Amino acid sequence: MLDLLMAIQKIANTAKTREAMWQAILTEAEVARMAEVGVYRGAFAESVLGACEIEAYTMIDPWQPLPNWHKPANHDAPRFDEIFAEAMQRTDFAADKRHVLRCTTKEAASQIDAASLDMVYIDGDHTLRGITLDLTLMYGKLRAGGLLGGDDFTMSVWQHGPDFDPTFVCPYAIYFAEAMDVPIIILPFLQFLILKEPTLGFEVFHLVDEYKNLRLNELMQMPARFKERNND
Ligand SMILES: C[S@@+](CC[C@H](N)C(=O)[O-])C[C@H]1O[C@@H](n2cnc3c(N)ncnc32)[C@H](O)[C@@H]1O
Repeated sequence: MLDLLMAIQKIANTAKTREAMWQAILTEAEVARMAEVGVYRGAFAESVLGACEIEAYTMIDPWQPLPNWHKPANHDAPRFDEIFAEAMQRTDFAADKRHVLRCTTKEAASQIDAASLDMVYIDGDHTLRGITLDLTLMYGKLRAGGLLGGDDFTMSVWQHGPDFDPTFVCPYAIYFAEAMDVPIIILPFLQFLILKEPTLGFEVFHLVDEYKNLRLNELMQMPARFKERNND
């Protein structure tokens, strides 16, 4: 596992895009069975299925409006039908590996066996409620040594401005890793990676310096561009 940590560090230092970084990490970790929470148009799924040795790829996304999800990607039903069609079309070349669960993480959880996955990529709800449910429900689906990665590890909870609910992937993912007593790596491109490896214990590996001493009060400050707009 320490070899994997060192390899991930090298990959993170050289990768030019989020997709290239995950392709290299997944290949290094020999990920074959994975799930993605929040698939949207299928861009990430397309890139992973096209570049990695994946045997089974579970896609979890309701692709429908959610009443309690106050985020810009919460579209109406006709728009979500188009987005779903695009996701299917983009990943059609790997249809035999695809397992589509058109529902929320909570509804999908009972349909996935415990310890059956090498990797889960979390990119769904992102609110405090969403990241809590996603990490808690998906951790048990990973085999020992599995990877729990995700997107939107933003340095401001006001990722989408004051009209939308805040994003709490950062710091919640760190608290979750601490509770599970496993390492977490803070990666470039607003990504994080928790290693389901209790023998290593909890530690935060900062591959992006800016997060090192980030305090909760800083994370929650409204960025100036939104404050100015509120004073209008
Ligand atoms: C940011 S997009 C995902 C982008 C995609 N991972 C990519 O990189 O190409 C977020 C998606 O999360 C989905 N989503 C929102 N709440 C969810 C939930 N509770 N369970 C599963 N998916 C959810 C939305 O429907 C939306 O399609």
